[in-house]
Amino acid sequence: MTIPTDTLQKNRLPQHIAIIMDGNGRWAKSKGKPRVFGHKKGVSAVREIVEACSEIGISYLTLYAFSTENWNRPQFEVNTLMTLLSTSLRKELKTFQENHVRLNTIGRLESLPEKAQKELREVTQKTKNNTGLTLTLALSYGGREEIVKVIQNISEKVVNNHLRTEEIDEKIINNHLYTFSLPDVDLMIRTSGEKRISNFLLWQLAYAELYFTDTLWPDFGKTDLLGAIINYQQRERRFGKISEQIEENND
Ligand code: FPP
Repeated sequence: MTIPTDTLQKNRLPQHIAIIMDGNGRWAKSKGKPRVFGHKKGVSAVREIVEACSEIGISYLTLYAFSTENWNRPQFEVNTLMTLLSTSLRKELKTFQENHVRLNTIGRLESLPEKAQKELREVTQKTKNNTGLTLTLALSYGGREEIVKVIQNISEKVVNNHLRTEEIDEKIINNHLYTFSLPDVDLMIRTSGEKRISNFLLWQLAYAELYFTDTLWPDFGKTDLLGAIINYQQRERRFGKISEQIEENND
């Protein structure tokens, strides 16, 4: 069954969708294949979701591609993921240009192999004037590490008298996050049945609607994405207010 795109309420689209792409290993295992086979299929799912977000008119998509904790996986799997990242970036440049996608990255990029860093720099540079979807890849990313870095940077400014303690507010913190140029997340999707945040965008998810599906990432396609957005559109986002106040604002 395919859900047509026009079933969505265009005036209530999530501006920023973030996804924890989970279940590649289990998907491969269920087919009697090695884990890396699942990651390769996972790249195809990334392509389908990027194209679908562009078509629907989503402005920001952030994908958890590699966490700070993922470095602890077997060396062979880490190496394969890094190679896959470099080759996919080169191959997908065409998809990005055709869909007017602008590539962005967050995380401790200096930990990535030089080749992957180079591909990321090149594709980011080549797509920087695109005006469609902003695709952010979280790579060697950890939410706690991001917050530690923010505190270090802000403390240094205070110590050097560039900032006063009383001036520190949410806006200042936002401006020091990796995601300084992105709006808050509206909808966070996690595939594969796990119901955890796993150190992803800890600050930015404060008011996000959370959507969990049992579908494994390699099987997650446009229909699943539309299902998640329709579910999001049925929710009432109160941001701490009461229903009546929200209804008044919509009048
Ligand atoms: C989670 O599945 C997935 C990842 C850790 C990596 C996500 C990567 C991709 C979708 C490929 C594109 C990204 C890069 C970096 C090339 P899992 O391995 O944790 O699955 P499991 O929980 O079933 O073991």
